[in-house]
Amino acid sequence: MGNRDSYQARCRAKAEDLRRRGEALILSVESSCDETAVAVVRNGREQLANAIASQIDTHALYGGVVPEIASRMHVEAIDPLLEAALAEAHVTLDAIDAVGVTYGPGLVGALLTGVSWAKALAYAMDVPLIGVNHIEGHVSANYIAHPDLEPPFVCLVASGGHSHILNVTRYGEYELLGQTTDDAAGEAFDKVARVLDIPYPGGPLLDRLADAGDDHAYKFPHPHTQGKYDFSFSGLKTAVINQAHNLRQQGVEIDAKNFAASFRRSVVDLLVDKTLAAARDTGAKRLAVAGGVAANSLLRSELQGRGERAGLKVFIPPKNLCTDNAVMIGSAAFYRLMAGETAGLDLNAVPALRMIGV
Ligand SMILES: Nc1ncnc2c1ncn2[C@@H]1O[C@H](COP(=O)(O)OP(=O)(O)OP(=O)(O)O)[C@@H](O)[C@H]1O
Ligand SMILES: [Mg+2]
Repeated sequence: MGNRDSYQARCRAKAEDLRRRGEALILSVESSCDETAVAVVRNGREQLANAIASQIDTHALYGGVVPEIASRMHVEAIDPLLEAALAEAHVTLDAIDAVGVTYGPGLVGALLTGVSWAKALAYAMDVPLIGVNHIEGHVSANYIAHPDLEPPFVCLVASGGHSHILNVTRYGEYELLGQTTDDAAGEAFDKVARVLDIPYPGGPLLDRLADAGDDHAYKFPHPHTQGKYDFSFSGLKTAVINQAHNLRQQGVEIDAKNFAASFRRSVVDLLVDKTLAAARDTGAKRLAVAGGVAANSLLRSELQGRGERAGLKVFIPPKNLCTDNAVMIGSAAFYRLMAGETAGLDLNAVPALRMIGV
């Protein structure tokens, strides 16, 4: 048996032992887009360290993520982040039981940085490697934030590249109830922000601007979709951008605060209407939210208020666990490990990875 085969055989045995004990201290890595992150997570629920290096300031110079720059910056950031995470968790590498890593979806070069690094680390430490779906990671942020949350629950995932309504039936098992038919919610926020001359990444800054605006000031269309729980943001985005251009051509000054508030209201109403309908129709008792757009202040307050009025227990992670981080990856990795799923050293980046069962 070669070194590689014996590593895999040893790791299968180690993974089985961890699964039987129901315990694992996981070192997790996230590098799918423009955040490099390393975390230490105990038993899928407890955050011991959450080290992040954001590249936003660099990409802001170009108005969006430049994939080649992202990959290089991940390479530079990842070793210092490991040191920082171990120090924050007060553990050494010997204490780590397994390594979890995002292998998709995301930018191929960015993902490959994390995947190659995690493979090397797992091999050197002789511990199991676990490949994690980034979107499953977003959902799992809720397990860190809410120790009492267990499936089944309905989860709205709204991020830079995805907008899904999922029925989380068990740990690691998902039914797709609805999804965007075109753009993701975060993408719509970022593109409309650009029209308002808000720098990249537009979503959080547009959110702040909207707080001071009147959300009835501008009227935007309410897009229709075929699927009962599906979203469409492309039509809304185009209508909003066209309205801005038309007003400017007519020499009418746009009130950015009101414009931002009206747009935010349209997106949030759409997300919340569909999510609550899906939760009601599936008889859900619990509702969670995940992904970068879940950091939006109006989305958070509307889901909480309207969700509770509809009789749901609502779970919303803190903002820093909604945007990309490695803690959520450590949680998702734990439940994959407990399901007996580990990766081999042939784990590859899968840029268009879909959710299992979705
Ligand atoms: N407060 C906010 N209001 C609206 N949008 C926000 C807010 N904060 C972050 N976002 C948006 O969330 C997105 C980033 O989220 P996230 O990091 O989950 O996306 P991603 O990792 O690039 O995409 P994905 O997770 O789909 O692969 C961006 O589009 C950003 O504008
Ligand atoms: Mg993300």
